[in-house]
Amino acid sequence: MRPNHNVFPRDASARSRFASKERRASNQVVFITGASKRLGREIALFFANHGMRTALHYRHSKKEALQLAEQINRARPGTARAFQADLNDVRQIKKIVAEAGEYFKKIDILINNASIYEKNQFGKTTLDDWDRHLNANLRAPFFLAQEVIPWMKKEGQIINIADWAGLRPYADFIPYCVSKAGLLCLNTALAKALAPRIRVNAILPGPILLPEKSSPRFKQAVIEATPLKRIGAPKDIVKAVAFLVESGSFMTGAQISVDGGRLIA
Ligand SMILES: NC(=O)c1ccc[n+]([C@@H]2O[C@H](COP(=O)([O-])OP(=O)(O)OC[C@H]3O[C@@H](n4cnc5c(N)ncnc54)[C@H](OP(=O)(O)O)[C@@H]3O)[C@@H](O)[C@H]2O)c1
Repeated sequence: MRPNHNVFPRDASARSRFASKERRASNQVVFITGASKRLGREIALFFANHGMRTALHYRHSKKEALQLAEQINRARPGTARAFQADLNDVRQIKKIVAEAGEYFKKIDILINNASIYEKNQFGKTTLDDWDRHLNANLRAPFFLAQEVIPWMKKEGQIINIADWAGLRPYADFIPYCVSKAGLLCLNTALAKALAPRIRVNAILPGPILLPEKSSPRFKQAVIEATPLKRIGAPKDIVKAVAFLVESGSFMTGAQISVDGGRLIA
């Protein structure tokens, strides 16, 4: 099933439920990294659909990020804005967090979603392969958290989008898997450092959106390796984000697997 991209629900009772949720949430500001496409875009639309304001980070996907901001602003003017940065550069992280904080006057929720995922054969992995994964997937979430915290005026939340493969690594993706394992450690450490004011939790997706050039054979092999015998949908991750935000008030330092059972296979 395709996720719902409408910013407002059509039927009257859904609109009224939406309106009351919207009133509660309307002041909240969410900063989402890698928000222009794929899972980040779905997460951003979830927050926009719930009346929250969204800071949409992108790196190269400017067109998609601006279109998303425009789509959200058409329904609710001034509630979304795109911010460009290469997260491998800590100075750019500081710059966009300051820009988003000044624009929205606060940040309530940080979603560390952006990441790179590349195959790196052992024996042929370069220093650059290692640094790009560790910098984008681990160093950036740490510095994003450090920059965002002063903008979290009262309570706040950080959600780290990790990977089940951070706990059960693939041999051909060592820099990626190590970066996600480090992100899980960062999740625990930040949860301790920032309690009781700020909750920090991780979601560990399994196969949801395969890399764009995946072959039908690869897809079938992934399905076979997944106990629930299917690929997940972006809405499965969005529901986990929604659960943490709406119902997770006694949760911090948690790791939620949404992986079709990959972790236990
Ligand atoms: N897709 C899955 O099935 C799956 C499975 C397990 C875990 N996950 C995790 O879920 C999250 C989202 O997955 P996804 O597949 O939707 O992600 P994705 O498409 O691989 O990447 C999301 C975005 O990250 C941004 N990005 C990458 N390197 C960056 C850098 N150095 N600086 C700034 N932005 C950078 C890119 O933004 P631009 O396009 O603007 O350059 C990209 O669009 C990731 O953390 C991923 O590890 C996904």
